[in-house]
Amino acid sequence: MRSSPASPQPSQPGNAWDTRPPAGGWGARFADGTVTSPTRRAAPDRAARHGETPMQESLVQVHTVAAVVFVVFHAVSAVTLLRVRRQRDPVTVRKMLRVSRVATVPADLALLTVLVAGTWAGIITGAFTGGRLWLWAAVAVLVVVLVAMLTLVSPNVEKWRRLVDEKADPPPPDELATALSARAPLAGGAVGLVGLVAIVWLMVTQPF
Ligand code: HEM
Repeated sequence: MRSSPASPQPSQPGNAWDTRPPAGGWGARFADGTVTSPTRRAAPDRAARHGETPMQESLVQVHTVAAVVFVVFHAVSAVTLLRVRRQRDPVTVRKMLRVSRVATVPADLALLTVLVAGTWAGIITGAFTGGRLWLWAAVAVLVVVLVAMLTLVSPNVEKWRRLVDEKADPPPPDELATALSARAPLAGGAVGLVGLVAIVWLMVTQPF
């Protein structure tokens, strides 16, 4: 296909996305001294364009994919938290909490991967020591969220589990209703939601 006169010319250096061979074919020398290799495409990959090494790029990709996996599986626990509060049947409560517990296994593994890959990337890019305050802000928000989960949410969910344990006597209906309607886990979930939005915003915009 012929290119229109207005379109960028293949031989222009700096036209990074043009995958057509430069004038003179692959192996041609640009005016600035750059030599294209016959085996290399003209378009540099994302890592090169952003000044990242392939290792840094891989770590950021693993970090991002693991974050998505965490959110998907932890959403199961989040939805359970919201829905179980209206239940009064111990068997239904037990089944719902079992689903939430199963979901915590992949969620926790994904969160661990997020932390390991993110910390590793932060160390090799020097981001922790390079004055990137957004990164430290994200770490601080994460600590607040984890404290909220481990003090407001998990202890209450464990209490519900003990109440509906199939090896124990069925709980008095009032006791179960009172435990399920506690406000603390909801407050913890709200902290988690706000924290999650804040962390994603900090990661995407890197504002300071
Ligand atoms: C950045 C956001 C969040 C992080 C890092 C986080 C992290 C955690 C961690 C580490 C645990 C304890 C370990 C475990 O049991 O798996 C946990 C438990 C839990 N979280 Fe979150 N969480 C977040 C957001 C939320 C939100 C928004 C909600 C609900 C609206 C929520 C609901 C729960 C529930 C219900 C549990 C108990 C799960 C169970 O034992 O079955 N979390 N969270």
